Amino acid sequence: MSVHKNIKRVTTNVLQEMKQRGEKISMLTGYDFSMAKIIDEAGMDVILVGDSASNVMAGHETTLPITLDQMIYHASSVVRAVNRALIVVDMPFGSYQGNSKEALSNAIRIMKESGAHAVKLEGGQEIIESIKRILTAGIPVMGHLGLTPQSIYKFGTYVVRAREEDEAARLLEDAKALEEAGCFAIVLEKIPASLAEKVAGAVSIPIIGIGAGGGVDGQVLVVHDMLGINNEFSPRFLRKYDNLYEQMMTAFEKYISDVRSGDFPNESEQY
Ligand code: KIV
Repeated sequence: MSVHKNIKRVTTNVLQEMKQRGEKISMLTGYDFSMAKIIDEAGMDVILVGDSASNVMAGHETTLPITLDQMIYHASSVVRAVNRALIVVDMPFGSYQGNSKEALSNAIRIMKESGAHAVKLEGGQEIIESIKRILTAGIPVMGHLGLTPQSIYKFGTYVVRAREEDEAARLLEDAKALEEAGCFAIVLEKIPASLAEKVAGAVSIPIIGIGAGGGVDGQVLVVHDMLGINNEFSPRFLRKYDNLYEQMMTAFEKYISDVRSGDFPNESEQY
């Protein structure tokens, strides 16, 4: 159980204080009411309505197809379930890269229509104008560097990023630029642990890692992955806290068998 369960509502200030005190931040994705309610009641600090919904909820191969309306739908379902966690929503591919005014109006739509607390954008100095403009409206922004899945067709693969010196140096500069612009936290995805630790030491805002080692200020995972619902995805960085694929399969098979045999419903399960 989280030692921070007594906090009424996690805010960006609470996360900042946690970094200062050296307390690790827990973050998990959530996309729907029922799952988000359990995650929140467990005491999670941050729930990310990730555009990984495109993969795990909608079955797309990448995060690119999910739309702003679909992200708002997922985010508002999560908002209705959550009392304590800070809720951050991914801005989907195409909603912030081209034009900072459009980025601002799309971020405003997310905040107004879902009731979430912050947005997350993938990228560094190339999207800094959009980030600054969104911040002018008082919308908290979380950055995301390293492996940025919306750029998968540029990278060509999901392998570890920033192993080379020049990319590592650029990532560190990007992190400093995001801090200076006013981001309240940054996700670092799939980069060497030593680089992630260096970034966490170089900025004063919380660094949340996924596949970035333990030297950062917090961790995030995709909820379906850590529950073992997807039994085909087992990267090195993923710790599976359950094997729900097996458990759900057993339950579904038993139900089918009980329906077919007439064992369900029995006399006490009818009116
Ligand atoms: O969309 C997502 O789930 C994410 C996390 C992997 C950080 O961005």
